[in-house]
Amino acid sequence: MAERGIGIGLIGLGTIGTGVVKVLQRNAAVIEQRLGFPLRVVRVADLDTETDRGVDLSSVRFDSDADGLIADPDVSIVIELIGGYDIAKRYTLAAIAAGKHVVTANKALLALHGAEIFGAAQRAGVDVGFEASVAGGIPILRSIREGLVANRIESLHGIMNGTTNYVLTQMESTGEAQEVVVKRAQDLGYAEADPTFDLEGVDAAHKLTLLAAMAFGAELTFKEIPTEGISGLAPVDFEAADEFGYRIKLLGIAKSHVDAGGAERIEARVHPTLIPKSSLLASVDGAMNAVAVTGDAVGPTLFYGAGAGELPTASAVVADLVEIAREIDRGGAGRVAPLSYLPDALRPVPLVPLGEISGRAYLRFTALDRAGVLGHIAGALGEHGIGIESVIQKGRGGEGDSVPVLVLTHPAQESALRAALERIDALPDVTAPTRLVRIEEGL
Ligand code: HSE
Repeated sequence: MAERGIGIGLIGLGTIGTGVVKVLQRNAAVIEQRLGFPLRVVRVADLDTETDRGVDLSSVRFDSDADGLIADPDVSIVIELIGGYDIAKRYTLAAIAAGKHVVTANKALLALHGAEIFGAAQRAGVDVGFEASVAGGIPILRSIREGLVANRIESLHGIMNGTTNYVLTQMESTGEAQEVVVKRAQDLGYAEADPTFDLEGVDAAHKLTLLAAMAFGAELTFKEIPTEGISGLAPVDFEAADEFGYRIKLLGIAKSHVDAGGAERIEARVHPTLIPKSSLLASVDGAMNAVAVTGDAVGPTLFYGAGAGELPTASAVVADLVEIAREIDRGGAGRVAPLSYLPDALRPVPLVPLGEISGRAYLRFTALDRAGVLGHIAGALGEHGIGIESVIQKGRGGEGDSVPVLVLTHPAQESALRAALERIDALPDVTAPTRLVRIEEGL
């Protein structure tokens, strides 16, 4: 080390990268008091070297040479904050091959290529920190990995996408259509220019893949997690949910199911969910995130905070830097397995098929406002053993008009619900596909 401290190279000086530089500069003294030596950003690489980010880079080598940064002997930890798959993967693997520790916020990369990246890091004897990849500033990964290490994790429920939580909260409070709210979220900088991954639940599914590995030691493939986004929800769904006593949240849900013979299966899914207004997760509004984790010893726990944004996400990146710096200082790496379970203990675990999942459901039928329609719907549900708990019909249609009919069912198996909906959607009085939103109780 030419100077006292540990040298850091940052690839990607966007919002989060700039936040990392700010936090390291602003809190340099307190970090050194905790660590015993400074963390020094020695190199930054970004294709855009012109834009003024409002941070002092006078003592830093700043250019577009990411490969040079990785090879630089003064760089011990490489932070990858460019996002995406291909180039991020190449730099991450190159850094590991060069014997550098890596810190990343890239959940998409890890959800798809985690096994390869963690395997390479283990063989090279370096660490990969990724606290910032799930729920931004909330230290949820470190909490599962260390704070809850004594527990067999039973379940986790997370609001892990700030964009969708902002959109749902706004739709509920203003009654506006989704497109209007998404546009506002983009104007305010909450939503990406292309928010498809957020709105369709893909971002939350990436995060759930990582959480499920850490909570259950389950090697899940991101693509096998049933994922539904929020795009089909309409203002009437929020009014009806409110009348039924619920709020609508995009949840990532994972639960361990162990049968009498000890065989384990994992239930994992991402979808809009009605949750009771009295649940703690129901009061998580706007762009905030929260993850509820239940362990067999600790019982229910709840972690809340900003899931995105410059400084909250930088807070998580810097926490990883400090942890890795401590390891370097002690002359080691890999004190704690990155996915909480030792690599040999991670194993493929079968998923519970969605059809087997049981619970109450909210159904929005769109039907002609004619006498007898409700009877046909109730009859088809009854034939599949599905009871109705409550019904609301919104508005009065004229001759030939369709109206929404909102139904809360008694607990039913998803396969029975799907079969009933197939029947109902083929009825001549039903004019649009029925929207099903699952209900999660006991949160
Ligand atoms: N796009 C993500 C969200 C932020 O809206 O929560 C980072 O994961």
